[in-house]
Amino acid sequence: MTLTQLRKIKEKGEKITCLTAYDASFAHLLDEAGIEILLVGDSLGMVVQGHDSTLPVTVDNMIYHCKQVHRGNKQALLVVDMPFMSYAIPETALENAARLMGEGQAQVVKLEGGAWLIETVQLLTERGIPVCAHLGLTPQSVHQLGGYRVQGRDEMGAERLQNDAMALEAAGASLLVLECVPSKLATEITDSLDIPVIGIGAGVDCDGQVLVLYDLLGLTHGKPPSFSKNFLQETGSIQTAIKAFITAVKNGSFPGVEHSF
Ligand code: KIV
Repeated sequence: MTLTQLRKIKEKGEKITCLTAYDASFAHLLDEAGIEILLVGDSLGMVVQGHDSTLPVTVDNMIYHCKQVHRGNKQALLVVDMPFMSYAIPETALENAARLMGEGQAQVVKLEGGAWLIETVQLLTERGIPVCAHLGLTPQSVHQLGGYRVQGRDEMGAERLQNDAMALEAAGASLLVLECVPSKLATEITDSLDIPVIGIGAGVDCDGQVLVLYDLLGLTHGKPPSFSKNFLQETGSIQTAIKAFITAVKNGSFPGVEHSF
């Protein structure tokens, strides 16, 4: 799977599927099932390492997991999160992104943030490092945001997200993850961009959907996020749960209004 192929899927009005993966065995299962994007998310800090946020995750942690996912993967596009503070300064971002691609074998790096990232996105993309932007609820800023809450509910917040999305695309971003924003705003942003927009808690009209794999399998400790769905509960095997997610995203039955804002 390439970025060009993902853009064609968007142009055809079809949906893109993405799930997080942290090891070779799950990467293999997800890839075999036909998932288009594997995201080595820094959510691993919470669901694998047991922290209460993604902040303690390091570049070395991400490289370690990315290598494993790469070994299990054949077809899917491999996207890796740049962890907290690893891209705060453009030069540091370049160094760390090069490690994630060179050592970790990622194909795309994902960065959380808006307009302040423009220079970094330009720097990376000009040097051949594809970037996935991440807007809305950006978990690395949980303390700044005052918790894990829906973003862009008011007019000013919505306008800022729309402007940030367009600026990041213009700077060279190839993909955008939109997390926890009202469906109407997510639809507007998706329609205004040429690059694929992958939603999580952002309504059904995004170009694709991503979930944390452990939420989909009901493995996450504590209360699951309201936008996620335990697909294992109604299917009975990991393989069929993953296939059910793919089918539901492709036919537009997931996310439902109960998973949206
Ligand atoms: O870290 C992660 O798993 C993510 C997804 C929730 C989009 O960024």
